[in-house]
Amino acid sequence: MGGDTVFTFFLLFLFLSYATARDRCMHQSKAAYSSSSGLSVGACGYGSMALGFNGGYTAAGSSTLHRGGVGCGACFQIRCKNTRVCSAEGVSVILTDLNKSNHTDFVLGDPAFTAMARNGKEQELKKLGILDVEYKRIPCEYKNRNLSVRVQESSRSPSHLAIKFLYQGGQTDMVAVDVAQVGSPNWRFMRRDYGPVWSISRAPVGPLQLRMVVTGGYGGRWVWAQKAVLPAEWTTGSVYDLGVQITDIAREGCRIEE
Ligand SMILES: *[C@@H]1O[C@H](CO)[C@@H](O)[C@H](O)[C@H]1NC(C)=O
Ligand SMILES: *[C@@H]1O[C@H](CO)[C@@H](O)[C@H](O)[C@H]1NC(C)=O
Ligand SMILES: *[C@@H]1O[C@H](CO)[C@@H](O)[C@H](O)[C@H]1NC(C)=O
Repeated sequence: MGGDTVFTFFLLFLFLSYATARDRCMHQSKAAYSSSSGLSVGACGYGSMALGFNGGYTAAGSSTLHRGGVGCGACFQIRCKNTRVCSAEGVSVILTDLNKSNHTDFVLGDPAFTAMARNGKEQELKKLGILDVEYKRIPCEYKNRNLSVRVQESSRSPSHLAIKFLYQGGQTDMVAVDVAQVGSPNWRFMRRDYGPVWSISRAPVGPLQLRMVVTGGYGGRWVWAQKAVLPAEWTTGSVYDLGVQITDIAREGCRIEE
């Protein structure tokens, strides 16, 4: 384990003592409706891809939920508290953007917002525009997808590599990413550029293997891709399957609000 990895773990513990209390808790907040189609682009860098995530049920989150990008791709169950217009089930959404609007934790587009409505109450809900809600973080489920990476356009073959993580299941945060040539013990760490995008300016030559540290209310755990993820001739815009999926669920209970 290199010095950088040890340092990463150190940061992890600092971060975890803060993060653990949050994850299973039911929180009281507000969710706002926005008809703007810009919801899916922006601060998480998913671009138009996000339109295909989670059946279009995406959300922009407050800074508290976006957490400088660590929260990108996290899933939440949101239930509106106005029982006259809202169903009891609520909606599960995936965080794909940041909205620093001061008064709400979530800004939802049409599909997610109206999914909270009782049958026939969709228009009424949109007119209300802002709703009292309760929400909690839930595991993301990808039945037909493995954890994957997309090679970003900012990459320059062969040495500058930037990848964006897609379809991260479970209820975890990704806090470190290492890359090595397949079969080599020389792992090099990547840096988070923003959100789910990690990069390295002197990437090993491929084919390349990846390993990641994820946390979910416990200390970090390594997730290893057991095979070559990126071919030697990786190309920007391509999506590569890691052959693994994450299903961990946060362990800590809720201290205060539940
Ligand atoms: C943030 O959310 C508000 C609604 O609360 C919306 O009016 C505004 O356009 C959103 N900002 C961005 C950048 O999407
Ligand atoms: C949000 O709050 C900050 C300070 O709390 C204020 O400076 C800012 O103008 C507010 N923004 C909006 C859009 O209300
Ligand atoms: C996920 O990875 C496993 C193991 O490599 C593979 O068998 C499976 O087909 C992959 N699933 C999908 C949906 O690609």
